[in-house]
Amino acid sequence: MHPTQILSLEHQSLRRFLDSFERMIETIARTRSVAPEDMDRALLFLEEYGDRFHHSREDVLFERLRRVGEGRGERPVAALCREHARGRELLRCMRDHVQGAAEGSSASARALVHIGLAFIEHERQHARTEDQILFPLIDELLSDEQQAAVAAEFEHLEQNLAPRTARDLLDLADDLGQRYGPGASTPDSTDVESR
Ligand SMILES: [Fe+2]
Repeated sequence: MHPTQILSLEHQSLRRFLDSFERMIETIARTRSVAPEDMDRALLFLEEYGDRFHHSREDVLFERLRRVGEGRGERPVAALCREHARGRELLRCMRDHVQGAAEGSSASARALVHIGLAFIEHERQHARTEDQILFPLIDELLSDEQQAAVAAEFEHLEQNLAPRTARDLLDLADDLGQRYGPGASTPDSTDVESR
């Protein structure tokens, strides 16, 4: 499987989770209160699976594109890397407000809702840009051998999550999804890769 197909599958998992996360945020907006354990687990999934695992894989692919793309990937990759940093910053801001919201601060709950909705919109748009613009460009510019070399590098990056695995984190996302909806099970690119 090409790295772009693997990453697109991961986008499906992330999109599905963002739908559930949106329900969580809507619940906070409606009730002005937060379930801190659920929010902690949701942010853990986004930080570990979304950023540490998925984005680190994308960084490897982007770096390869920079080396072989003769400048064609420079601008979109620079823009997408800035978007990764922006997503990370929004996650940090949400973290900052969880405790206050859990202790009953309505200002923190409002901030959590505001930042959470901005994050969801940002991540949906970001994944769309990668799927529709960057990944087709990568498939055009990278040979099968170059793509295979990137896919081999992907194998090692899951170690960054130790002692967790990507599957552990997807299970956590599934559990939240089943309680908040839509709740469908998430595909796991690591399962597909090993088939
Ligand atoms: Fe990305």
